[in-house]
Amino acid sequence: MKSSPHLISPSILSADFGNLNETIDLINTSEADWFHVDVMDGMFVPNISFGFPVMEALQRRATKPLDVHLMIEGPERYIERFRKLGAHVITVHYEACKHLHRVIHQIKESGALAGVAINPHTPVSLLKDILADVDLILVMSVNPGYGGQKFIYQSIPKIAELKQMLIERNLNPYIEVDGGIGLHNAERVLQAGANVLVSGSAMLSADNPMEAMKSLKAIGQEAFKNIQA
Ligand code: DX5
Ligand code: ZN
Repeated sequence: MKSSPHLISPSILSADFGNLNETIDLINTSEADWFHVDVMDGMFVPNISFGFPVMEALQRRATKPLDVHLMIEGPERYIERFRKLGAHVITVHYEACKHLHRVIHQIKESGALAGVAINPHTPVSLLKDILADVDLILVMSVNPGYGGQKFIYQSIPKIAELKQMLIERNLNPYIEVDGGIGLHNAERVLQAGANVLVSGSAMLSADNPMEAMKSLKAIGQEAFKNIQA
């Protein structure tokens, strides 16, 4: 079976916001694929991060797709606005949407890729009736709200279970995993079936962020070459 190289999506939540352009330029010139943009409202999650002004700064300067993770209640209120600010992927939480199917189609109609995220306590089986509608599924491997938390290892069998559900249905959305990912556990996350890795503190707080992103991107690539040969 062929698998494809994974994408990496560094979270700018770990940026120094006094020097945001520096982080944007760093990611632009790195081996990262996307910018992961964590929007928090202080309601769905206990923390407040940032909103439209940061999106505007990204839209002006970022040269890679913006992967927007909305940790907000009632995200349907803001889909078109994030899309106008250049969001390429918009992911909403299963737990934050009363009418998830409607919101997913609203995102698609806006022209963005539509993602659904689940918290660590939410079973993947609850996604079965939305799987065919989404472009991306984000499995949270920490409780959302903060960068720099510890990876919850129960996420690994969840990713594998999700992958199996997708295979059975012949579906191929991205499987993105977010929270506590670094060079120490990325391989296991990929082996379980993920193909997009979010990483914040392990990349941007590394001594050499450029090298850290290069290493994260390279994980498993040798194995991939062997599979293709
Ligand atoms: C958590 C956010 C994550 C976070 C990842 O609520 O959704 O994207 O920034 O940061 P690390 O990699 O530090 O866990
Ligand atoms: Zn995130």
